[in-house]
Amino acid sequence: MNNTRLNSISVVGGAFGDEGKGKVVDEICHTIINRFDKVLVYRWNGGSNAGHTVETQNKKLVLHQIPSGALIEGATCILGKGMVIHPGDLISELEDIWNNSKINTDIVIDEMTPLALDTHRAFESSLKKREEGGAGSTGRGIAPAYADVVYRHPLRMRDLLEKSWKEKFEKHYLLYRDLISGLGDDLSETQVNSLSAGVVEVGNKTKFINNISEQREQIIKYIKNVYNLVKENWNSKVPFVFEGAQGVGLDLRWGVYPDVTVSDPTPSGIFSSTEGIVNPETIEIRANVYKATYTSSVGKRVLPTKMAEELATRIREDANEYGATTKRPRDIYHVDLPALSYFAKVSMATHMVLTHLDISYPDIPIKVCTQYVDKKGRAIDYRPDQLFLNHALPVYESFKPWDGSKIKNSTNMSCLSPSVKKYIKFLSQSINLLPLMLTTGPKRESVINSNYLLF
Ligand code: IMP
Repeated sequence: MNNTRLNSISVVGGAFGDEGKGKVVDEICHTIINRFDKVLVYRWNGGSNAGHTVETQNKKLVLHQIPSGALIEGATCILGKGMVIHPGDLISELEDIWNNSKINTDIVIDEMTPLALDTHRAFESSLKKREEGGAGSTGRGIAPAYADVVYRHPLRMRDLLEKSWKEKFEKHYLLYRDLISGLGDDLSETQVNSLSAGVVEVGNKTKFINNISEQREQIIKYIKNVYNLVKENWNSKVPFVFEGAQGVGLDLRWGVYPDVTVSDPTPSGIFSSTEGIVNPETIEIRANVYKATYTSSVGKRVLPTKMAEELATRIREDANEYGATTKRPRDIYHVDLPALSYFAKVSMATHMVLTHLDISYPDIPIKVCTQYVDKKGRAIDYRPDQLFLNHALPVYESFKPWDGSKIKNSTNMSCLSPSVKKYIKFLSQSINLLPLMLTTGPKRESVINSNYLLF
């Protein structure tokens, strides 16, 4: 029985995040809206830790919590229950979108979505001083916000709608005050990140409650029970785009500890976020996004495929490889097929999107790691374990490069030389995914859609 839900697509980071998903989702929504007059864009994981960049008319917008479809008139963006949301950052993002594009984003927030507040950011910062586990975080309070769910005391969006909301938030503040004081710090004096103001002090309970009170006024109109909205649309033919944050390589189960995030960046997270309405196996296109000619990563993880620093520095500068959220310089690796194929398998991908095709230098062959071997030369798999990876040795194959500057911003397959096409075919066959889309530069229009974009 073929139970594929037509007109549905999920976009997932195929590596360690920062693959260029923002632009890809924006383009997919654009293509869809030109054919249909409606699209639902559903984000199911993460929060302010994400940084999805979309460039429009020379303006660069970085979205963190709001799906990248927000820049498309006619799109409805749903912020799902699998996310964690910081209300202050959300308001800044909405203002940013309005100031830059004059688009009144149509967003709906699942009332069940947990909140990630300044208290969580402060707790993360205190932990960071004490132990390594917090060292790699983006400082957006993501892990503590999800931990509140595990501890069975999350604050959810719908708590903001309650008459007695203040009591709940005060109780929450006092809990975190005590947790943080146990770690030797003062919650009120702790500095945390804020999208609009850079770094701010959390302040005392009154200030915390006043801030929430102001934010509440601005966001309660977006908070809804989304169950029927998702169900009715999913049972119709309305196009759905599921936008993932982070990447499969950052998944708690499939990533390398400690550089992992807490939420589920794979399509299986869609199943739980939609409370079982959307079975990801029925999504028509499950696309993993990869950088075409190299792989980037942030954190302590060391893959066997580290690139020599000279080329890495060149790529870092040319492709602006600095975290969209944290501004941290990213590590640069050769394309690591054992890792990328593993991520494709565990995330049940069907298609691939290759970004950054313009990052290739005519004089430098593209080195791709095709397999790992042990010290006796026996083939071994990728495993999400740093101790194991420390002993894996990469085997490389070199590919004829092309002049990236010549294909920058190309929008047509015919602009690509045979060596580019051969390379794409090789990646597609090796990872066993059909090519869906290619991107040739950061600008919105620098995209080549393949025939596989079925919509
Ligand atoms: P957290 O998500 O802030 O808890 O950070 C945990 C780990 O995931 C860290 O290594 C972060 O650098 C990484 N991370 C979280 N979000 C992103 C992202 O959107 N892109 C890339 N790395 C991320």
